Amino acid sequence: MIPMHHTSYRAFLQCVRDLLDTPEVQSMRDIPHHPGTSCYEHSVFVSYVAFRLARRWGLDARAAARAGLLHDLYLYDPRDKTQYQGNQCFAHPVAALKNAWALCGSLTPMEENIIVSHMWPLAKKMPRYKEALVVNLADKLCATAEVCRIYHYLRNRDRRRRRLAAA
Ligand SMILES: [Fe+2]
Ligand SMILES: [Fe+2]
Repeated sequence: MIPMHHTSYRAFLQCVRDLLDTPEVQSMRDIPHHPGTSCYEHSVFVSYVAFRLARRWGLDARAAARAGLLHDLYLYDPRDKTQYQGNQCFAHPVAALKNAWALCGSLTPMEENIIVSHMWPLAKKMPRYKEALVVNLADKLCATAEVCRIYHYLRNRDRRRRRLAAA
């Protein structure tokens, strides 16, 4: 749904390319998220929106993009209640942080805070960086777009346009 030739998209890819190609991030394709959206689609969407907002506001767009991509890296099926303790709303940012640590070896304090605080204010961990607020906002915008099926509309519209262009 994002035009591949777009210069912003290229700049975005430079920030996340190494992460995008990992089996861990790719495995989010099989994790359901909002109805009709995989965790992977959602995470790339959030990462890109956070990147654009952070860059526009003069913030660390690379950190926003990278932690945005990993913010939902919990890697289990949320419908399977044996995979986590308590409430998924509070459990999944912690699981995502653990997996992001394992994937990256280390994270900056900013990246850690972005991931663990993305469910604020529902969950108690607060965003302590502007970049964390940006990802928090991007997550809510994207989730709303997905639930309202705006995401599907844009994706299908782009597919239709690509098909027409190829014909
Ligand atoms: Fe989440
Ligand atoms: Fe999310």
